Amino acid sequence: MTVFLGIDIGTSGTRTLAVQEDGQILATATAEYGLSSPRPGWSEQDPADWWSATVRTIRRVMRSAHLKPADIGAIGLSGQMHGSVFLNRSGEVIRPAILWNDQRTASECEEIESRAGGRARLIELVANRALTGFTAPKILWLRNLEPRNFDRTVQILLPKDYVRYRLTGEFATEVSDASGTLLLDVVNRKWSQQLLEKLELRVGLLPAMYESEDVTGKVSARVAGELGLLAGTPVVGGAGDQAASAIGSGVVRRGIVSATMGTSGVIFAHSDEVQVDPAGRLHTFCHAVRGKWHVMGCVLSAGGSLQWFRNQLCEAEVRVAKRRKIDPYQVITDQAADAPAGSEGLFFLPYLTGERTPHADPSARACWIGLSLRHGKGHMARAVMEGATYAMRETLDLIRELRIPVEQIRLSGGGARSQFWRQMQADIYGQSVCTINAEEGPAYGAALLAASGAGAYRDVTEAGRAVIRVVSRTSPRKATSQVYSSAFPVYQRLYLALRDEFAAIQALLQDRPEIS
Ligand code: XUL
Repeated sequence: MTVFLGIDIGTSGTRTLAVQEDGQILATATAEYGLSSPRPGWSEQDPADWWSATVRTIRRVMRSAHLKPADIGAIGLSGQMHGSVFLNRSGEVIRPAILWNDQRTASECEEIESRAGGRARLIELVANRALTGFTAPKILWLRNLEPRNFDRTVQILLPKDYVRYRLTGEFATEVSDASGTLLLDVVNRKWSQQLLEKLELRVGLLPAMYESEDVTGKVSARVAGELGLLAGTPVVGGAGDQAASAIGSGVVRRGIVSATMGTSGVIFAHSDEVQVDPAGRLHTFCHAVRGKWHVMGCVLSAGGSLQWFRNQLCEAEVRVAKRRKIDPYQVITDQAADAPAGSEGLFFLPYLTGERTPHADPSARACWIGLSLRHGKGHMARAVMEGATYAMRETLDLIRELRIPVEQIRLSGGGARSQFWRQMQADIYGQSVCTINAEEGPAYGAALLAASGAGAYRDVTEAGRAVIRVVSRTSPRKATSQVYSSAFPVYQRLYLALRDEFAAIQALLQDRPEIS
């Protein structure tokens, strides 16, 4: 049977899957790498690390599934979105890539909105408002702050598209990831010539555009030997990690919505038409399903808040978990489960890395509010989980406001693995949630895109229907849902009450780099 490789260039590592035509996973491999933060709010990686992790993981899955080069029908790529790789004339990387969670570009976002003729006009052109994480502000930052590097730049690529370039020698992208650059005319699925002109950027800086299932190039003879693959193996467009994860969870038709509680938390809804939030709080991007779109919101530190809590405050729990040979999160959620719903008036705002949805605010900061002598660590843990879930609910409500049907919520990420967090999500969303048989997310979606691009399925919708099914459902409990319904508006008001103070704290830290 033909085998497809799905490769996800994530923020903490690259994950590669070998997936059979019928959806069965034959082998998986992950290679991790670091992230550097040379200044507060900055987040960078070396693209060479992505490439070496790609090489290592491809070789590992080939070896462990005993695959021959000719078994591979096609490769699909997925990756962290919005990052910018700047290449010079020789195709070399000019400076470290600036990542999706980097917050340095607040003034470039203002510059973009003003050059576009205001936020409303920008939304007309590219369906989205300017956010610090997106790619276009990073390009302007390079031009403003590192003009010599900008002058040497001849090509700008997204993370997975850099790996594509190393695999195939082609400069290419696809519509779902390109949507997050803020330079795509999302309605017409091509680069926005109008916005590029207003920003004085050449379209030649950007790669060729494809639909996600299309073949964008072939593995070159130059790297085939190093990878243990055949030269000529097709590489399809693939998708940004969120769209790829949606494909890997079967979110390929109207009514299905996914809630992914990973480091970030994402609510993602398939949409047959372009649906735009007039205030730009949600992202409207092209879906990896040909000719379809999606709406999504991203909570920057959802599961990431609980991870921070574990790393900073749970040394004892980690020790207990080690002794009992269980996951530290199990010990932490058991403690959280001992506190009542609503954490007896304790709230946590999960803005550890600023926030994106619904408050596009790089200055926002995390905090517990409402602490009293009654509160212990279990309350604090529960409040962290509730805060992350309230933030997801705010995003879900924006989707409901747009009248996009939310018939089925499919959970994934760490938040789907815990029964306690699944129940909390059902109670806070006020709607049943379900889990599916596929847990691999973006790399799996990339493999399904490769399979449909190579003709194993008519299209990716058929692939999703064939291999993905619901395996569990959790319904909200009435009394607990009511507790959360009363607490949720208080949670929502806390950000509004603190917004100006977050900006004041940020002003204390302000430090712009010198022009190099
Ligand atoms: C999506 C987003 C993140 C990154 C990293 O808009 O910023 O999901 O793609 O995973």
